[in-house]
Amino acid sequence: MIGVFDSGVGGLCAYKELRRLLPREDIIYLADSKNSPYGTKTKDEIIALTKANIKKLSAFGAEKILIACCTASSVHSELLPEEQRLSIPIISPAARLAGELGERIAVIATNHTANSGAFSREIRKTSEACVFEFAEQKLVALVEGGCRDGRVSSGCKEELLKIKNKIQEVNADVLILGCTHFSHLEGELKWLLPEVNIISPAREGARELIKKIKCDRAGCGREIYM
Ligand code: DGL
Repeated sequence: MIGVFDSGVGGLCAYKELRRLLPREDIIYLADSKNSPYGTKTKDEIIALTKANIKKLSAFGAEKILIACCTASSVHSELLPEEQRLSIPIISPAARLAGELGERIAVIATNHTANSGAFSREIRKTSEACVFEFAEQKLVALVEGGCRDGRVSSGCKEELLKIKNKIQEVNADVLILGCTHFSHLEGELKWLLPEVNIISPAREGARELIKKIKCDRAGCGREIYM
């Protein structure tokens, strides 16, 4: 069984990709709406919530857990070794792909993720691209409040237009949706920024988890001497 968690509806974008690629797998989804939003919390609070979610999902029998939340993924290195082994953060696969695709990378994220510089750090491991991180916490509440699946209110449109201007001002060729809630608005952002490559950590994280699970189950990377 695979466990997936987020502070709310953001991780559903990762869940959809998992379900599409693994139609018969048991998947359990935890939306921690009681403690939402995560993006305005302190690092210590986010670590405590992430640990609690991993504990809950493994108690339900999850063999691997997708941290379908960039804010929680940004504290992955602060977890205990066994918690790190059990869980897959979603920042690294998205950062790797962004480094391959672009030279000017914009990231829109929660307050915590943007201020932590987690995406910049990860991108710098494989690329020399310029990175511009923007905190767009207001958009989390709008998505959580129903601005998704084609239902885009005028308030949400206004925020999206402001974001479009910021991305164009820095002349970005890649945009990372550095908060999984924003993946719900991928279509709208694609329409506003047709010349920009859009990367969804929710989708890339789901694909990374599948690779890891397939490896674990097939014993990939293990050498057998006869
Ligand atoms: N969806 C989450 C993320 O990817 C967090 C949004 C929030 O609760 O602030 O960062």
